[in-house]
Amino acid sequence: MPAAGMGALTQGARAPGTCPGEGPAPCAGEVPAACAGEAGGQIPGRLRALCRLEALPDGTSKGFPPAAGGFAGLFAARQGDAVHVYVNSCPHLGVPLDWMPDRFLSADGSRIVCATHGAEFRIADGVCLQGPCHGDALEPVLIHIKDGTVFVSETAGY
Ligand code: FES
Repeated sequence: MPAAGMGALTQGARAPGTCPGEGPAPCAGEVPAACAGEAGGQIPGRLRALCRLEALPDGTSKGFPPAAGGFAGLFAARQGDAVHVYVNSCPHLGVPLDWMPDRFLSADGSRIVCATHGAEFRIADGVCLQGPCHGDALEPVLIHIKDGTVFVSETAGY
């Protein structure tokens, strides 16, 4: 298994349009804050450095506030080498899913759970498997992982 943070992680399995890991680098610098250039790959526009991979261990989740000027926060869930990022908005009522900061997963870590009415979502693609929004899905966010940092579009969650 590739080592975390070495740029060898796979990306979220579904994430339509997820940047292919070997695509053009979206930023030239190794410091995330320096990543202000135009994105390569499939993420248009400017990028936002979301987090370092080591801040998202396997089997955990992490929430992020809305981008400047944005409305919805984001959250990431890690399953093995895959990182999945979604808009933090339940398709049932549009409220945030977490019941505590960074707590988006079921007790066994196998599903994303909405704290309001308990809808359960598959981590890999955000599809609701059980609950009032059964069949709907979370809004996936395209990601690009470079040098151990997860990047998303600056406008993700708008
Ligand atoms: S608001 Fe998420 S299940 Fe109702």
